Amino acid sequence: MQHKKLKDFPEGFLWGSASAAYQVEGAWDEDGKGVSVWDTFVRIPGKTFKGTNGDVAVDHYHRFKEDVALMAEQGLKAYRFSIAWSRIFPYNMQEVNEKGLQFYDGLIDELLANHIEPVVTLYHWDIPQYLQDDYLGWESRQIIEDFTTYAETVFRRYGDRVKYWVSLNEQNVFISHGYLMATHPPAVKDPKRMYQANHYANVANAAAIKKFRSLGLDGQIGPSFAYSPGYPIDARPENILAAENFDELNAYLWMDVYAKGEYPSVIWNWLEENDLQPETRPEDFKILKAGKPDFMGVNYYKTSTVAANPLDGVGIGTPNYSGEKGSTERGGIPGVFKEVLNPFVEKTNWDWDIDPVGLRIALRRINSRYGLPILITENGLGEYDKLKEGQIHDQYRIDYLNDHAKAVQEAITDGVTVLGYCTWSYTDLLSWLNGYQKRYGFVYVDRDEDSPKELKRYKKASYYWYKEVIEQNGKNL
Ligand code: BG6
Repeated sequence: MQHKKLKDFPEGFLWGSASAAYQVEGAWDEDGKGVSVWDTFVRIPGKTFKGTNGDVAVDHYHRFKEDVALMAEQGLKAYRFSIAWSRIFPYNMQEVNEKGLQFYDGLIDELLANHIEPVVTLYHWDIPQYLQDDYLGWESRQIIEDFTTYAETVFRRYGDRVKYWVSLNEQNVFISHGYLMATHPPAVKDPKRMYQANHYANVANAAAIKKFRSLGLDGQIGPSFAYSPGYPIDARPENILAAENFDELNAYLWMDVYAKGEYPSVIWNWLEENDLQPETRPEDFKILKAGKPDFMGVNYYKTSTVAANPLDGVGIGTPNYSGEKGSTERGGIPGVFKEVLNPFVEKTNWDWDIDPVGLRIALRRINSRYGLPILITENGLGEYDKLKEGQIHDQYRIDYLNDHAKAVQEAITDGVTVLGYCTWSYTDLLSWLNGYQKRYGFVYVDRDEDSPKELKRYKKASYYWYKEVIEQNGKNL
């Protein structure tokens, strides 16, 4: 529907920006940090773009004060970052590393001193390596207890200062990439193992939320879900059904479990039919029902357009990790759906559909299905940026973010409760599989795949644009 006038963004709207520990911190073996599965994975030849790793990343560990000063100057209201589990429990789940805890004390205090709300992610994909070696990490029921212990430790330490918590970041991504596509650690290709690991992750997520509540802390907690809403390519009923299948299997399979504490029946039935259903226990569902989130965190980048796929149709595709436009080989699940080209939207150089209306649709679907407030925990454009005479003219990023923020305002006007909007990312950072050439930040970091150079920071044009958006609480969009 078209509105005659858009509502204003609410007072106190969290205009934020985000990062993740492995992608920015560096200092991979400093101050008692243990090894995470990503520290190991990036050392296997051929796994990442040009063999890039996060050993130094953008050195946020040593430069966080400089980075927070840039945020403060911009007027940022919220900064979302993740805690590296391997800094807190480096070698086992019994001994806590005080120096690891102190690093995040310093970051949180620096943010608060500059009136920036910390939004803390417990887990952004970097499980300690010893948990993988000891019992296969997410594939073991033991992870539920260990994740809860880790979560409780950081809740107790920072709960007096942190009011927004994100439990798991993009469970759908780390599980599907880790256990189906084998592009993330532990690089397994086995759907049965994937759904089992996913079930334990579901219960661990809810157990951590339940623990948070039991501590009586003031604050809100929810997962961040990577939602790419499905569109049918046309009005042929079988394609509409394929789009339904896509959202059931790629979105509701996760979000229903978070928000309702149960699996969507259509998907559970499909899992059973294909002998893919995880082993569950009745007490798991008690935890799932008791650990529902306060908000749904949403990471939105693009939509997906789909069509029907026969039982002997295409399987897993090949994403574009090179930045060569048009190199994506779209895949699907035989008998369920296949992804196809959407001719109506522009694409990035990594072939991601640029679709601000899709964000409004995403927010509305979540609102209708779950009625939960939504925190947009990521949204942004990965592109090549050029540093020229100390400046970066990223008008394409301004356009992208402006259109998406406007779509958020439209959704708010539609009646959706949105707590805040965090762009991805604050500074440029390491893209897990795309190296340093795919940039997302407001702040350019001068480094590339070959060398960290001096890691000098430069404000992009988008930095100044967002400063004004924040100053005017979105009135200038
Ligand atoms: C999200 C992740 O999937 O998308 C981020 O939470 C990631 O960690 C971001 O960097 C962008 O993805 P990519 O592959 O372009 O770096």
